[in-house]
Amino acid sequence: MERLPYYQLLHVLSLIVLTAQTYMAFANPLPENRKRTMMITGIAALLMFISGFGMLTLNKIPFSSTGWVWVKTFCWLGVAAMAGLAYRKAHLRATLSVVTMVLLTVAIFMVYFRPF
Ligand code: HEM
Repeated sequence: MERLPYYQLLHVLSLIVLTAQTYMAFANPLPENRKRTMMITGIAALLMFISGFGMLTLNKIPFSSTGWVWVKTFCWLGVAAMAGLAYRKAHLRATLSVVTMVLLTVAIFMVYFRPF
């Protein structure tokens, strides 16, 4: 059985959920939504991480010797932290949303171009 497509599906779906919920928090950081948003983004970030490392294993890509994976992991950490920041630093939302877009762009660039 080919397992890779399932990991890819999980990776991309959790990316969409993480991004959508993060931008929802930027648009409307109501304290009463905080708990739910933190739970959903936390689970989505975890699934992204698990599926990402699962694909590395399936593709036999060594983590430590691959630059693009380090860069993606850094971007992932940044994006995963954003929903929490949206509630705590609500006045910085405009800047944080641009930073999130940059992190996502860099991470996706790393997948398709793998410059190192
Ligand atoms: C914000 C962070 C991230 C974004 C936006 C992102 C996005 C993507 C996208 C769009 C793909 C392409 C899926 C496809 O073509 O099937 C992909 C594939 C992949 N991602 Fe991520 N990802 C992120 C974080 C991570 C992390 C933390 C890891 C693991 C350490 C990871 C490992 C991988 C691997 C191994 C692939 C498959 C590459 C291949 O086809 O050989 N990603 N990612």
